[in-house]
Amino acid sequence: MKSDLKPSGTISLTHEGGTVEFPVYKPTHGPDVFDIRSLYKDTGAFTFDPGFTSTASCESKITFIDGDEGILLYRGYPIDQLAENSDFLETAYVLLNGELPDPEKRKWFENSITMHTMVHEQLKHFYNGFRRDAHPMAIMVGVVGALSAFYHDSTDITDPKQRLIASHRMIAKMPTIAAMAYKYSIGQSFVFPRNDLDYTSNFMRMCFAVSSEDYECNPVLCDALDKIFILHMDHEQNASTSTVRLAGSSGANPFACIAAGIASLWGPAHGGANEAALNMLEEIGTVDRIPEFIARAKDKDDPFRLMGFGHRVYKNYDPRAKVMRDACHEVLDALGIRDEPLLQVAMELERIALEDEYFVSKKLYPNIDFYSGITLRALGFPTDMFTVLFALARTVGWIAQWSEMIVDPNQKIGRPRQIYTGAPQRDYVSMEKRPA
Ligand code: CMC
Repeated sequence: MKSDLKPSGTISLTHEGGTVEFPVYKPTHGPDVFDIRSLYKDTGAFTFDPGFTSTASCESKITFIDGDEGILLYRGYPIDQLAENSDFLETAYVLLNGELPDPEKRKWFENSITMHTMVHEQLKHFYNGFRRDAHPMAIMVGVVGALSAFYHDSTDITDPKQRLIASHRMIAKMPTIAAMAYKYSIGQSFVFPRNDLDYTSNFMRMCFAVSSEDYECNPVLCDALDKIFILHMDHEQNASTSTVRLAGSSGANPFACIAAGIASLWGPAHGGANEAALNMLEEIGTVDRIPEFIARAKDKDDPFRLMGFGHRVYKNYDPRAKVMRDACHEVLDALGIRDEPLLQVAMELERIALEDEYFVSKKLYPNIDFYSGITLRALGFPTDMFTVLFALARTVGWIAQWSEMIVDPNQKIGRPRQIYTGAPQRDYVSMEKRPA
């Protein structure tokens, strides 16, 4: 990656009588960035920023979020335009390569992904090692990590060709691995990929066909899932993407890095929130119970939070949530579900929260996870598969970010420092001299 960091000015910092200057960069979009890489060398001091709320960890040309305006761009293209007009593989191409493909490149990419959908026969045995009631995300972490043991010809990260093959393998095999995790958890035999189907229809079929009966995807449902995948594909330097970059910064192979990303995504504050949001809507159950839960969310002494509400970056309506809400209505209409009680609860909860002083003043809006649970459940997925679907889509973003990092001239092994507030240096005390 060519670095485009050009200082537009400097900022000076005075500390213990000395003054030092640091370059200031102006990005294409977004706030100015102070380059403090020489801070420790120049002043002997660190910065303190738990959760990286004010820290740009890398230069990137992939995704941009304006949290105040509610904007999300992949390579400059607004997310709603991609969701409306593009499809999974084309958007994946854009994220990985930076531009919309011409017909020839599109065909090449589609062919390459389609030809890598099968998994090694031996990989199937991994599934048998898991309990049937294992969470499919546990299976995903294990099986994706194991890919590095199967594809030795694509783990040399210094070889661009190997990196490309590893990337295409992961994007292609993720639906197969995810569908196998689902089939294993419900005690059904695996359904193998069919290369005449598009990416999302193939995934739906691998999940819902059985040996005695094939599955034909309703185009409205497949389109909705394809849109959902596009919405989840990348989201700048979130926890799982930063995990992938951090793991990759040590030179680890790409399969291991993506497995680390899956592990990070699993948490309820990140990818696990869609499952938690649906559970919450179920717990609320009926519209008349909403005030009780709003009161709990506002109570400082109650750990309960409105799941699917609030975001570290968006302080406006999450642009993905708008598309997701529409997709939710499309799916329910296509399935003839007119009075889904959870949808009634969700819409009323959203209406009340958007008018409530607590949520308004803290700029807490619905995020992508608020409507995704209802939609995914209507599509036929059980709640513990929700985060797996997120992982499937986010794999593209993780790979795009990992690939960018590998060729970044400024890339270094990630190694944050700390502010130590533990015991001062002291001498070891032998057992007989310790107070009883
Ligand atoms: N319900 C009630 N209060 C909330 C909520 C919520 N969902 N989210 C934040 N707050 C309050 C929080 O208590 C705090 O109040 P105060 O300033 O009085 O202490 C204030 O809003 C700021 O919250 P924060 O936890 O400091 O903000 P954060 O940026 O660290 O957290 C978040 C962001 C997403 C973890 C948080 O909003 C949350 O826990 N939301 C629910 C879980 C969820 O929906 N997560 C999915 C995120 S979108 C998917 C993705 O991109 O990965």
